[in-house]
Amino acid sequence: MRVLRSASLAIFLLVLAGPVYAVQVGERAIPFQGVTLTGEKVDLADSIGKRAILLKFGSIYCSTCVSSLEDVAHIRKRFKASDLQIVGVNLDVYGISRVRRFYRGYANLITYPLIVDEKLAASRPYDIQSLPAHVVIDKEGVVRYVSTGATEEDLKILEDVVARVVRGEKGIGKFTRKPPLQVYFPINFTKTLQDSVYVVGKAKRGARVSLALNGGSRQAATVMRDLFYLRTPLSLGSNYIEVSVSDPLGGKVTQGVVLFREPKMGAGIESPFPVYRFHNEKNEALCRKCHEMNPPEQEGRGFAAATRFCLGCHKELTGMRVVHGPITVGGCAPCHLFSSRPNRYEVIAQGQDLCFKCHEEKRKDLVKSYLHGPMSAGLCTICHSPHGSSEKYQLRRYVGDLCVMCHEGMKSVSFKKDIHKPVNDGACTACHEPHSSDRNDNFLKKPGNELCLSCHTGVNRTSHTHPFGVPPKKERLIKLDKEGNLLCISCHEPHAGDEPKLLVKGGCSRCH
Ligand code: HEC
Ligand code: HEC
Ligand code: HEC
Ligand code: HEC
Ligand code: HEC
Ligand code: HEC
Ligand code: HEC
Ligand code: HEC
Ligand code: HEC
Ligand code: HEC
Repeated sequence: MRVLRSASLAIFLLVLAGPVYAVQVGERAIPFQGVTLTGEKVDLADSIGKRAILLKFGSIYCSTCVSSLEDVAHIRKRFKASDLQIVGVNLDVYGISRVRRFYRGYANLITYPLIVDEKLAASRPYDIQSLPAHVVIDKEGVVRYVSTGATEEDLKILEDVVARVVRGEKGIGKFTRKPPLQVYFPINFTKTLQDSVYVVGKAKRGARVSLALNGGSRQAATVMRDLFYLRTPLSLGSNYIEVSVSDPLGGKVTQGVVLFREPKMGAGIESPFPVYRFHNEKNEALCRKCHEMNPPEQEGRGFAAATRFCLGCHKELTGMRVVHGPITVGGCAPCHLFSSRPNRYEVIAQGQDLCFKCHEEKRKDLVKSYLHGPMSAGLCTICHSPHGSSEKYQLRRYVGDLCVMCHEGMKSVSFKKDIHKPVNDGACTACHEPHSSDRNDNFLKKPGNELCLSCHTGVNRTSHTHPFGVPPKKERLIKLDKEGNLLCISCHEPHAGDEPKLLVKGGCSRCH
């Protein structure tokens, strides 16, 4: 069962996401093992202390990681394999077959082992925060240089550092320079359920910052004071948010952030990243310089003031056509705990329990015999936004689109010749209960023919060309009710069909 599977995975992932110690420059390299795209085993321990090593961390979603492949191939050619070991580490945590397919196009450049770090076991110890990243380890097995970015300048320095390390030179720290671009939020290699986030970072005042999501859609902003804010939508799965700004030394500086978006309900997409939470002491400290980060006291009219304070940054939550009741009355405090620590603004209860605090009467939907998939998982917010939306009942999407989001099979309906009017209108809830039912009949609002007759009041036994509610005279291969009587859906498709009058496949000749 889908629901259970995602629950057990969540527990498994929590165990994985423990804290780790990160290797610093000047310390011994931490070995790791992996399997290359072509299936060979790699163990870094075989090279540590024997030859210099260059680790290249990247992702297929990071354009500069891909464009720098050529430079690394050039470094590979320049040094003997006995002097320098290069290992590529890809931080793509899902869609491995896609990664393999991708690299087929670059086979001529991958002249060194490249592993896919699905569990982040190789990159965690090196605390890789941004891509591409390069780590240079000397012949004694000591980390000598860590760099991020891949501008022409960066790569020139990298090649120079590698040459010096291969020669056994010391003292290469002076190459690190203050980065012209720093992305603070979202935090790299975290995950979220949100469908959009702020990207907040630092660059030179007046500079033009541009953001590309997964190598596609772009947007830009000008840096005010020394910070920039861009809000970007997120795709399900891995998101590579690449921010770039022109480098005062020429070319462009880019920094990438990998943020994973998990669906609210398991669609087989999960990641081992920890959850991205913004509101805690450490993160808020960066903003305190200019923003008040503590909400005003919540007494009397304070509710309104506190809500206004939140909306200063969360204005995307307002201005919707349908706003959820409690927000208009009590603001954010009825659901978000202002006193929770270390994470602020936790919701006062999880899942459906939060909703039942006020919608007690909806509990009766849960004691029915048949629960709709997402209801049995306790996830009201899959369908309803807790804040608001442009749809009635704060539904996340228009009903028809909402249902089809999970019931993909229903998409084929639109290719049929004849589509039943209410289905064409996306009014799925004209016939189906969205929450639960006491009958095992696809959550239909009324049983059997009653449902159809509730709209088709003109249809009756004398007017209709065909009989219903009685057994057919001859045995035919059609649906019948438990008593063996003809149903409307014995002869008609409820959603859509290729025959006129929504007749079942085959039309008249199916039965005659
Ligand atoms: C140097 C002062 C300063 C710091 C530090 C600062 N901000 Fe701001 N921020 C501002 C000012 C001023 C505005 C109002 C800008 C405007 O109205 O155009 C603003 C506006 C915003 C907005 C609204 C942007 C929009 O599109 O209207 C958000 C969101 C925001 N800041 C988030 C943050 C976060 C998160 C941090 C901490 C990482 C932070 N800011 C740190 C000065 C700062
Ligand atoms: C200075 C800007 C700012 C203010 C003021 C602010 N937030 Fe946020 N909040 C953020 C940012 C940035 C995020 C990260 C998620 C995003 O980018 O959408 C966030 C995320 C959240 C989240 C998701 C959980 C988390 O910690 O990431 C909640 C819940 C939240 N805010 C509630 C509130 C409430 C309630 C208030 C008012 C009491 C408030 N926020 C005021 C900037 C702000
Ligand atoms: C009826 C309860 C309720 C109220 C009132 C409410 N929230 Fe939320 N909020 C939630 C829940 C539940 C979530 C978790 C989201 C989910 O499951 O989709 C959430 C999530 C968030 C997030 C994370 C982004 C997201 O969409 O998931 C932000 C930001 C946030 N709330 C801000 C606010 C602010 C600001 C207010 C006041 C204007 C507010 N909330 C009022 C219940 C509420
Ligand atoms: C703090 C109390 C409170 C909480 C918690 C709360 N609601 Fe509401 N909700 C209200 C109020 C008040 C209204 C508006 C009054 C009404 O129409 O019943 C409302 C209205 C609604 C409506 C529209 C009902 C209609 O007939 O138009 C829906 C749907 C809804 N809430 C769903 C939810 C869901 C889902 C949750 C859990 C994420 C939730 N609510 C949590 C108080 C709450
Ligand atoms: C599969 C999507 C889905 C889920 C999950 C879901 N709802 Fe709904 N809900 C709907 C739709 C669709 C409607 C509108 C029904 C209609 O058009 O008649 C609705 C209507 C409502 C209403 C207003 C009408 C009424 O029946 O009172 C409330 C309140 C409500 N839901 C609360 C909840 C609560 C609480 C939960 C979680 C226990 C929940 N819903 C889970 C889809 C969903
Ligand atoms: C978040 C995903 C999701 C959404 C949204 C959703 N459903 Fe479902 N639905 C399910 C799951 C899961 C099942 C159980 C399927 C199973 O057990 O194989 C289900 C079962 C059903 C069934 C029973 C028949 C079947 O295939 O098992 C019907 C009918 C149905 N949904 C109609 C709707 C309608 C109408 C809507 C829109 C109001 C809707 N669903 C929205 C996930 C969803
Ligand atoms: C006119 C009434 C009506 C409307 C409108 C309607 N359905 Fe149905 N639906 C039915 C009936 C009747 C059945 C049972 C068919 C059967 O037993 O063979 C059904 C069965 C289903 C099933 C389970 C069997 C299957 O075909 O997979 C799903 C899922 C479903 N409907 C989804 C939807 C969605 C999504 C919408 C909106 C786009 C919708 N329905 C609109 C009447 C309707
Ligand atoms: C929510 C109301 C509603 C329900 C329930 C409903 N229908 Fe309909 N049906 C309509 C409407 C509206 C039309 C279009 C009438 C028109 O164009 O004159 C229609 C048209 C039809 C047609 C004629 C199609 C055509 O091509 O001319 C058939 C057959 C039909 N429905 C069968 C059914 C059956 C069988 C059921 C039960 C599974 C059902 N209906 C339930 C509203 C409904
Ligand atoms: C035994 C097969 C059969 C059953 C059972 C049946 N129908 Fe029909 N229905 C037909 C056929 C065949 C037509 C097309 C006849 C025609 O155009 O003369 C039709 C036509 C219709 C039409 C279009 C009528 C029009 O005047 O355009 C509607 C609406 C309809 N049926 C609704 C229903 C409803 C509601 C039920 C259940 C109460 C039902 N049917 C049961 C075979 C059946
Ligand atoms: C899903 C099966 C089905 C379909 C499709 C169907 N019929 Fe029928 N038809 C029946 C049944 C059942 C009867 C009643 C006789 C019986 O009970 O066996 C019947 C009766 C008739 C009768 C009365 C004569 C008789 O055999 O009793 C005619 C005429 C007729 N249908 C014509 C049509 C035409 C024309 C179409 C296409 C527009 C059509 N039917 C489609 C099942 C069907």
